[in-house]
Amino acid sequence: MPELTFREGGPGDLRAVFTVSELAVHDTALRSGVLDTPPPSETQIEEEWQRRRHLLEFTAAQPGSGFWLCERAGEPIGYGRVARFGEMEELTELMVLPAHHRQGIGRALLERLWPGDPTPDLGRVVVAAGASADLTLYSDFGVMPITGHWHIRAHPEDFLERRSREIDTAEPAVVVLESDRAVREWKRLEPPAIGHRRPRLHEFFGRTRTCLATMDPGAESATALCWIGAGGEIGPAVGATPQDLVPVVLQALDRVAKTREPDSLSVFCATDSWWLLRRLRGLGFRVWWPSWVMCSIPLPGLDRYMPTRPPHLL
Ligand SMILES: CC(C)(COP(=O)(O)OP(=O)(O)OC[C@H]1O[C@@H](n2cnc3c(N)ncnc32)[C@H](O)[C@@H]1OP(=O)(O)O)[C@@H](O)C(=O)NCCC(=O)NCCS
Repeated sequence: MPELTFREGGPGDLRAVFTVSELAVHDTALRSGVLDTPPPSETQIEEEWQRRRHLLEFTAAQPGSGFWLCERAGEPIGYGRVARFGEMEELTELMVLPAHHRQGIGRALLERLWPGDPTPDLGRVVVAAGASADLTLYSDFGVMPITGHWHIRAHPEDFLERRSREIDTAEPAVVVLESDRAVREWKRLEPPAIGHRRPRLHEFFGRTRTCLATMDPGAESATALCWIGAGGEIGPAVGATPQDLVPVVLQALDRVAKTREPDSLSVFCATDSWWLLRRLRGLGFRVWWPSWVMCSIPLPGLDRYMPTRPPHLL
């Protein structure tokens, strides 16, 4: 049996470990009962890589980021990455090929990425989208569950039909913000919600996504913001209050449902944001894949925050 070796990864390893990630996540979906399809083909993995690569390359390029691989006979069989944003390190991926689970590889990778304990100056957060057994592993590394992270979905036609029947729901006007303005507003509204600063992430989204906003007419500042990706991905979104989050997300869903006609509409909803969950539930959304946000500190305002798509980042 060839031995397992561990080494630090670099930008040139990202494509190879993306295949590990797609196969590991597919296995989790099978085990959790949310999918019953065969594993993705090389062609499907390559298409998904082309959709995701810019965000993955961006997170890998952040100063202070970490990337460790486990290899067998020179082939990656597991890897983990952390990206640093201000006072927080986010575990963006921890993936091991299914045939190598329960051999201590996930733990060994985390020991390299997150040695010692989190500190007051550098916290830790992870969107724990794996199987329930994986939660046990993360809790040994200084993070605890702070809120649910529900992947919820609806049929676009059903959603639009229910939207058209809504009465007594006057909604504030939603505008598209020019990217410099959007980034400035994100820098103002996001830190009080998630408890850390991610200016470079929003500068990246300013180059790659469209920002919808509701505005406070008196102060001429945004009351809520939502990024929409080129592929129709909705999120992250943030509001000044939990109620403010709702209209901007609904308008984003309207736009994606009408212009892209996807097979399904989906968002990640923090279970703290009751206003949004309740409204989306009334519009036909159902829980598809429930996960957890785990963190080394309680985050102050996830009741007015909707997480990023894809779920590598909070
Ligand atoms: C999460 C993951 C990386 C763990 O990797 P792994 O190499 O199998 O983990 P380890 O062998 O190091 O196990 C570490 C701990 O996890 C827990 N664990 C993992 N799988 C488990 C299972 N099937 N049943 C019970 N506990 C389990 C145990 O607490 C174990 O601790 P132990 O050493 O005391 O037994 C792997 O399951 C995976 O790739 N999952 C799919 C990808 C995914 O969804 N990742 C999460 C999204 S970021």
